[in-house]
Amino acid sequence: MTTEQARKTAEALTYSTGFGNEHSSEAVPGALPDGRNSPQRAPLGLYAEQLSGSAFTEPRSHNRRSWLYRIRPSAAHPPFTRIDNDTLAGAPFTETVPDPNRLRWNPLPEPAPGTDWLAGLWTLGGNGDVTQRTGMAVHLYHANASMERVFGDADGELLIVPERGGLLLRTELGLLAAYPGEVALIPRGVRFRVELLDETARGYVCENYGAPFQLPDLGPIGANGLANARDFRAPVAAYEDVEGPVEVVNKYCGNLWSATYGHSPLDVVAWHGNHTPYVYDLRRFNVIGTISYDHPDPSIFTVLTSPSDTPGLAGVDFVVFAPRWLVGEDTFRPPYFHRNVMSEYMGLIEGAYDAKAEGFVPGGGSLHNMMSAHGPDRETFDRASAAELKPQKIDDGLAFMFETRWPVTTTPQAAAADHLQKGYDDVWQGLERHFRP
Ligand SMILES: [Fe+2]
Repeated sequence: MTTEQARKTAEALTYSTGFGNEHSSEAVPGALPDGRNSPQRAPLGLYAEQLSGSAFTEPRSHNRRSWLYRIRPSAAHPPFTRIDNDTLAGAPFTETVPDPNRLRWNPLPEPAPGTDWLAGLWTLGGNGDVTQRTGMAVHLYHANASMERVFGDADGELLIVPERGGLLLRTELGLLAAYPGEVALIPRGVRFRVELLDETARGYVCENYGAPFQLPDLGPIGANGLANARDFRAPVAAYEDVEGPVEVVNKYCGNLWSATYGHSPLDVVAWHGNHTPYVYDLRRFNVIGTISYDHPDPSIFTVLTSPSDTPGLAGVDFVVFAPRWLVGEDTFRPPYFHRNVMSEYMGLIEGAYDAKAEGFVPGGGSLHNMMSAHGPDRETFDRASAAELKPQKIDDGLAFMFETRWPVTTTPQAAAADHLQKGYDDVWQGLERHFRP
């Protein structure tokens, strides 16, 4: 299948959900019970099973669950046994201490031949505690083989941000394709397999241990804007009827566990509910910014937010810096110098980012932890301070940020990586004094 065919096939297999709404889909007509969730006998000899992504009793607006009608219930499996975590880690991150330094990495090196998406996951760091369902982890991936095994993450939802190469996600609820410029979300507990649509795949993952991502409130912006609900696409039910050994890997409280099933667990024939995977095309983001002066805080670019118990304070926000017009008058237009109580991991999907002249490259990333001073590099400062302020289109880059309430502690492999840039501080050297009273 060519990439274009795969994209068309995958598009035909998804539909617009509206965000977080109740939906239903059946791969075989009549597989979905009419009216009841768990009738005495589910249609077509299927088993009914509820997958709960929230406590039963959470408010309706936060309640997440899906009913799955499947060939075998998920309970029919042999014991799981621990396998090597390899380059994947989970919170709490205690092997290094939080680092106040600005850190920046080049892209992950080439993986060994035969590295599937799961084996290609490499944890940069994170915060919180998987057993407390708080915090997040930043992972990167670099893979060159399709998965044959099936993976599920009990620790959190996975926001996948492809940077190179398309992914076909075969999930319990159906198929999704995600290409660079799109993001895919796999909810907590949903099993899936990643197949590569190109020779290699590279990208980023935010593993969110906390409350599921939701759309931010819009306040005075009004009823429309930022990410629109109808642009989130859920899969149409699709199942595989495979008898024979299938390895299923379960990430559970930070560790990987494996079991060999006698069948594929991707055997859901019909489903309904709102605990569903989805894809979103970042190019559909409605970018809002100033039309008078000053640079709004980057929260104006929030795509998804995972709320905490404190109103307005996110466990983690997913923020995109998409193509947009800059028109601010008498304004330093690139991101300003700042220190932030929140911690910022930034990645680049394509092109360049307007606050950095060089060194911040697609597939790489930077970490500006709590209160670490950062902002434009010297070259960018000099250029933007002297620029003629005509309307200007920024259309050569797609950057994003995972912004989180707690410092990100790096893993030892990230702190000692060969691809950790030496001398990142130097980009802020040479910012001369101009104060001459
Ligand atoms: Fe920042």
